[in-house]
Amino acid sequence: MRATGRFARAFSFYRRFDYHCSAVPRINSQRIFFKQFVRNFRSTGALAPSSRFLASSLARFVREHRYVAGQKPRRILEVGPGTGSVTRAIIKSLGPNDHLTLVEINRAFVKHLKLRLRVDELFTGVKDRVTVIHGRFEELETDMPFDVIVSGLPLNNFTPKEVQEILGTYRRMLGRDGVLSFFEYIAVRRAKHIFANRAERQRLREVGRIMKETLKPVRIDRDMIVANLPPAWVHHVSWRKEKPTLDS
Ligand SMILES: C[S@@+](CC[C@H](N)C(=O)[O-])C[C@H]1O[C@@H](n2cnc3c(N)ncnc32)[C@H](O)[C@@H]1O
Repeated sequence: MRATGRFARAFSFYRRFDYHCSAVPRINSQRIFFKQFVRNFRSTGALAPSSRFLASSLARFVREHRYVAGQKPRRILEVGPGTGSVTRAIIKSLGPNDHLTLVEINRAFVKHLKLRLRVDELFTGVKDRVTVIHGRFEELETDMPFDVIVSGLPLNNFTPKEVQEILGTYRRMLGRDGVLSFFEYIAVRRAKHIFANRAERQRLREVGRIMKETLKPVRIDRDMIVANLPPAWVHHVSWRKEKPTLDS
């Protein structure tokens, strides 16, 4: 009995040590992510955080529209940051006065992000310029447009009405020259179709149609990311008339 008590105490100490002293190790993020996938499948929408290749592509326009001295600070929004794998890539490309807003619906992820801002070296360096909001992106109130929006939302899990509402909100929140980057897993709708019932197939068809009609005319580029589980497309979208260039 005493041996069991000692073992339990040692194990509990190890878990706390693992959590706090190793600067939020990758394995910890993955464990939290998988737990949330099981609990909140619909909103989490993935088994594991995005790979660094996917994260780098999602942060492409934060990087390419690099801060230029004298330029006004940029406002960047990340929707659905999860455990922060894409946030990390965004932070690496932040200019000295840029501000990053993170909106996350899941309380466990919010807690994890706040921990990273306290203990992860890369995150602590910018913590005064990062705002974490716990809530639904659709309810975010803002009076200033964003220069870049990076979205991790699993749009293919949502209803057509929700997808329409979210795409409309992205458009409203982007500044005139702003760019939206978001991803979807390659052939995900076709794969889901195979196992879906009639109503689900109808939903997937309608979501596909809305995304195609809304985004195809304004898509400025897309990246194929094979080094991710599963592989993904990253779409970059701008409602501006001319394609943004590196120096615009
Ligand atoms: C596919 S995961 C992406 C996580 C992370 N960006 C990554 O790439 O590893 C989707 C994320 O969106 C969040 N999410 C889902 N619906 C949301 C909503 N309406 N508002 C804000 N966050 C939401 C989930 O909790 C989850 O963190």
